[in-house]
Amino acid sequence: MTQIGTDINQAKRLLEKGEVVGIPTETVYGLAANALDTNAVVKIFAVKNRPSFDPLIVHTDSLEKAADFVQDIPELAQRLANQFWPGPLTLLLPKRPLIPDLVTSGLDTVAVRVPNHPLTLELLRSLAFPLAAPSANPFGYISPTTAQHVADQLGDQVPYILDGGACQVGIESTIIGFSAEGPVIYRLGGMALETLESIVGPLTVRSHSTSNPKAPGMLSSHYAPRKPFLVQPIEKALDQYAPNRIGVLAFQAPIASIPTENQRVLSPTGDLAEATTQLFASMRALDKLDIDVIIAELLPDQGLGRAVNDRLRRAAVK
Ligand code: TXA
Ligand code: MG
Repeated sequence: MTQIGTDINQAKRLLEKGEVVGIPTETVYGLAANALDTNAVVKIFAVKNRPSFDPLIVHTDSLEKAADFVQDIPELAQRLANQFWPGPLTLLLPKRPLIPDLVTSGLDTVAVRVPNHPLTLELLRSLAFPLAAPSANPFGYISPTTAQHVADQLGDQVPYILDGGACQVGIESTIIGFSAEGPVIYRLGGMALETLESIVGPLTVRSHSTSNPKAPGMLSSHYAPRKPFLVQPIEKALDQYAPNRIGVLAFQAPIASIPTENQRVLSPTGDLAEATTQLFASMRALDKLDIDVIIAELLPDQGLGRAVNDRLRRAAVK
């Protein structure tokens, strides 16, 4: 059985022994292991049931430490790291050989991020190695935003979950890479595109699996509840299902024709950051109700709303 607690030393001891540990970040909870130890990283893939072609993000506590395991940090990447780390931004950088091929699925770049969470930063500072950590959910399911979410699904396979409270951002980090033609966004995420563009200028977004072999993990079906999940007008659903069999993920206000106990409202004031924070816990709550289908409303397609909409659309892909 798993243990949930705030003991950084216990997390450290387990990680040093090559075990996996659940860790809080500002985006979502991660399933961490020593990124330099292939045997430890193997456990991450096994616990998550994750295919080995989907590479992991490596977490560290500073740009200086990242320089130990990447070949080169382009000037633009340095600027972004200085501006936004610790924070919900992942940089794709050329890897050094000490990063195992399993971590990067054989790619020559490694995804690197400094997470903005006090417990995890303290843990990272205390360790002699960086932590590989994907989101701590079974492959394809909704990412966890509390320690309890991690325990609910992976509890019997994870000895310890470091409890850092509910995640403040609530969706995964934005992933940016640096190609010869300029910077490219491979995953929309917790750092709004507009915020990045204010520093970098116009950005190319290439976050679809078919056109995106570089990021094999950007599968079109992802973040999905077990129940059928649809992004469509409620009228269409009412042709097919009785009102009390429908769950609704609403942005600002519940839908009048559906029982309120079957609905989750992301932000009554229409605040995109609040809606983002609530997203995954609300999807999980709806998935547990006695209903047949979940209907989701899209958010305005701007700022964090774009990243949320990307997840809603992927959750709806079968
Ligand atoms: O916010 C986050 O990023 C969370 C927390 C725990 O840090 N982590 C996370 O990890 O979302 P994961 O494994 O669920 O998603 C990582 C994504 C995958 O889709 C993977 O394909 C992509 O990052 N990725 C990793 N390394 C890559 C690389 N070298 N090139 C392209 N994509 C990469
Ligand atoms: Mg994930």
